[in-house]
Amino acid sequence: MKRIGILTSGGDAPGMNAAIRAVTRKAIYNGMEVYGINYGFAGLVAGDIRRLEIADVGDTIQRGGTFLYSARYPEFATEEGQLKGIEQLNKFGIEGLVVIGGDGSYHGALALTRHGYPAVGIPGTIDNDISNTDFTIGFDTATNTVLDSLDRIRDTATSHVRTFVIEVMGRDAGDLALWTGVAGGADEIIIPEHDFDMKNVSKRIQDGRDRGKKHCLIVLAEGVMGGSEFAEQLKEYGDFHTRVSILGHVPRGGSPSVRDRVLASKFGGYAVELLQENKGGLCVGMVDNKLVASDIVDTLENGKHHPDLTLYDLNHELSF
Ligand code: F6P
Repeated sequence: MKRIGILTSGGDAPGMNAAIRAVTRKAIYNGMEVYGINYGFAGLVAGDIRRLEIADVGDTIQRGGTFLYSARYPEFATEEGQLKGIEQLNKFGIEGLVVIGGDGSYHGALALTRHGYPAVGIPGTIDNDISNTDFTIGFDTATNTVLDSLDRIRDTATSHVRTFVIEVMGRDAGDLALWTGVAGGADEIIIPEHDFDMKNVSKRIQDGRDRGKKHCLIVLAEGVMGGSEFAEQLKEYGDFHTRVSILGHVPRGGSPSVRDRVLASKFGGYAVELLQENKGGLCVGMVDNKLVASDIVDTLENGKHHPDLTLYDLNHELSF
């Protein structure tokens, strides 16, 4: 394979630029040509494609977001959209495609695979909700951003003897809430993968109060319910001077951490190696600190992401 394309799709994640850089540099180093596709699958269908040279990815490794831009493009789920995309790839002579993104982006790569077009997926999402990899690009940076907010909120919570419900993103996965809850010493972590009882939550808050504890932090994954709804339900069990803080898109931005830059660089280099060997229909991952390539059909159809629930139990023991 001599000419490959690259796009970023779905929600952006810190470290995507580092992955684009790695793909571009490694491919050029190995004598290949690289084409960047703007705005994900939407740009692919529209033919918004340009050649990437070594200098085009300079000064990008430290930048958040994605300089190839991103988009949510449900139209690519249709046969018509997919065939238009392949037509553009053929027009530019692009023989293989690297897709950086989350679950939705992988479905786009899967569709190309089913049409016999070689695509390799790189997991990039703050949600960490992709199977066949322990971590996705962007997760580490996002956890650190959330943690910074938790530490700040704890200050004001203590000053006012308040309970804070901090809603964090993650779509249907609780990883972001779980990891930041443990790191931030949260009193409660509420995630979709574990049930909870509001009466018990209120009892733990009250027990803490009775012992003279000033602050209470509850980290809530958006996949469970909204922060305001949670606070309303909690109110039925007592007045804990509750405030709600929704971190929203804040953890999606910012300069990527060391771990995310290194992970992105490794994934990018590996994806190029696979395409160079004419291997498509795969997605890369890091399992037990080793690079792996998994079948993309299997990853999407049979793989199920599981958060590390030992963290949940540990937090229960550490925060009471
Ligand atoms: O998948 C990444 C993510 O940030 C989720 O955590 C969140 O639910 C969703 O994207 C938000 O999507 P949008 O940026 O389109 O509002």
